[in-house]
Amino acid sequence: MAVLPIRTLGDPVLRERARDVERFDRSLARIVDDMFETMYAAPGVGLAAPQVGISLRFFVYDDGEGNRGFVANPELSELKREEVRDEGCLSIPGPFYPTTRALRVRLRGQGLRGEPIDVRAEGLLARIFQHETDHTLGVLYIDRLDDEGRRQVMRMLREHELRRVQEGSRNL
Ligand code: NI
Repeated sequence: MAVLPIRTLGDPVLRERARDVERFDRSLARIVDDMFETMYAAPGVGLAAPQVGISLRFFVYDDGEGNRGFVANPELSELKREEVRDEGCLSIPGPFYPTTRALRVRLRGQGLRGEPIDVRAEGLLARIFQHETDHTLGVLYIDRLDDEGRRQVMRMLREHELRRVQEGSRNL
């Protein structure tokens, strides 16, 4: 297994609608192993294939509360009630910002062997499903904010990058 580099804002792969997964084979299973390792190393609660440069519609997740898995070709339905909570993204490292999502969702898709998945989720898990499904469609959480929210996230992102540069320079 290997930790893969995570693509960040500005990389065009994050903005494409990825292709549906059609082959559920050993090479997919190997990439999924690497993506779990990458997600845990980050650390994060979800990681979609475009974030590691693979333009296919699938993601992995682990909400830290016992719900862990893989979903290909995700489709959301039955989005119910709204909830605002801080949200961040491994591809926009640093900032967290209050983001509106459905509190409850139904998610259908396919598992590692192509078998059907049909689950209902609430709260954090529902938020992960929405965030990661967006990634497979080229959508980022900042797209769901108003102009002021997007400006604030971009400001936090620049400050975060500046801090990293300064910390890096001390290590020379
Ligand atoms: Ni993300």
